[in-house]
Amino acid sequence: MHENTQKITDIILKAAEKARRETRDEDQKLRAGKSIDWPIECTIGPGLEGAIACDSKVGYVDGSKGWLVYRGYDIFDLCAYSSYEEVSYLLLHGSLPTPDQLEAFNKKLVEYRYLNKTLRLLMGFPVEEMNAMGALRMGTILMRQEFTYRDQEAGRPAIGDAISADEDSIPMETAPTGEAKAIYEFNAAKKARKRKKMLGDASGLEACYHLLAGVPTITAAISRVRQGHMAIEPDPQLSHAANFLYMMTGKRPTPVQERIMDIALILHADHGMNASTFASMVVASTLSDIYFSVGSGIAALSGPLHGGANEQVLHTLKEIGSPDQVADWVQTASKKKKKVPGFGHRVYKAYDPRARVLGPLAGYRMRYCPEDIVKLYKTAKELERQVFRTFGHEKKIFPNVDFYSGIVYSRMGIDPSMFTPIFAVSRVAGWTARVLEYLQKNRIFRPRAMYSGEFEREYVPLEQR
Ligand SMILES: CC(C)(COP(=O)(O)OP(=O)(O)OC[C@H]1O[C@@H](n2cnc3c(N)ncnc32)[C@H](O)[C@@H]1OP(=O)(O)O)[C@@H](O)C(=O)NCCC(=O)NCCS
Repeated sequence: MHENTQKITDIILKAAEKARRETRDEDQKLRAGKSIDWPIECTIGPGLEGAIACDSKVGYVDGSKGWLVYRGYDIFDLCAYSSYEEVSYLLLHGSLPTPDQLEAFNKKLVEYRYLNKTLRLLMGFPVEEMNAMGALRMGTILMRQEFTYRDQEAGRPAIGDAISADEDSIPMETAPTGEAKAIYEFNAAKKARKRKKMLGDASGLEACYHLLAGVPTITAAISRVRQGHMAIEPDPQLSHAANFLYMMTGKRPTPVQERIMDIALILHADHGMNASTFASMVVASTLSDIYFSVGSGIAALSGPLHGGANEQVLHTLKEIGSPDQVADWVQTASKKKKKVPGFGHRVYKAYDPRARVLGPLAGYRMRYCPEDIVKLYKTAKELERQVFRTFGHEKKIFPNVDFYSGIVYSRMGIDPSMFTPIFAVSRVAGWTARVLEYLQKNRIFRPRAMYSGEFEREYVPLEQR
């Protein structure tokens, strides 16, 4: 292991030790949970707070203690010892991969990094002007057709089949007459059979692999185009995290950058029935497919109360300006009852374990760092202190996963508009794992609303209103 990446492991182990000291009772043993015997009784608050929608073996969050577990493994151990590839395999399959399984899985991910047709279609839109999450959502939906007819040698039509046009032809360019037809009309029966065969899998494991590998490719391409560059071909030699950084920045990352991105991806991979996971499960429960389902997850994640908070944190830190202005800013925010981005959580009423890792990692990266980012970090530290003093301690409001992630990404030269898409790159693992699990015992989601409106109103014709 590289000397500096060993330092990163040490930082994680130290954070883990602190968390265990503060949150674990020595006598307490975590036991495997039970499946639910439906129907159950539970107390439900607005926003479905407290509602239990299903049972799941994918992951566990204890918000009062600040624990996060994927498939039985503590998040700190996974950060310290594993990789995103291992973790996404674990989430999808339920157990850590053997070396052979990991090799086969990596091969799939590398193969699916290539999304030539999807990118070609996506670049037909003004991606550089679009909301990055909007473009990512569109790209994910476009991937759906790539899965059904992949832009690779095997999927290409034979030259002999081509009569009047290449595969990129669109109807407006070709005016088929008599026997001459555009290639997309050729072998229609053969293509339909092939499409049907593969589409049969559009909610299967293969589609999940495709999305795990493809969402980073689309995210990186969006990032490049927004900076005025061309998208970069993936590098099959690089790990998932390293290739993602390479495709985004155009530079092969250092071992430290690769390791930190890998940890960030592990930390964001799954988190119970959060809004975007629930959104993707609701869509899947209608027996729509996994591309639409992940597209809905991306839409839900984009909001500032969810994944969009990481970008808001950076804007807030810049707005505050410097550590000495934090106290006044917090007083004003508190008086106006303004929510501070990057703090608080529906589930955690203790320090978020993901922030326990990202906070020290942000600090570690401050050496030899540009002055403006050091200032952001110092402002963030002071903001954490002041929020805790002013109301955080009393209301149990602590930094969440989004508070330090933006500083970590900024240190890698990533623009704030890409922070939430990076969250999505990682969360695809949780979305797809939970959707696959739910589909095994699928029941369409259909909660009720309590009607609080009127009855028996008399219809008044338009001209009399
Ligand atoms: C995540 C979030 C939506 C959870 O909301 P929630 O479960 O509905 O929490 P509540 O709004 O019930 O909060 C409980 C109390 O803490 C306060 N609070 C919660 N988050 C706060 C924050 N970020 N800043 C200031 N006060 C906050 C609420 O105002 C409320 O105070 P009150 O009891 O005096 O009215 C909320 O904490 C938030 O908006 N955070 C900022 C956005 C963010 O970082 N989101 C990413 C989450 S990973």
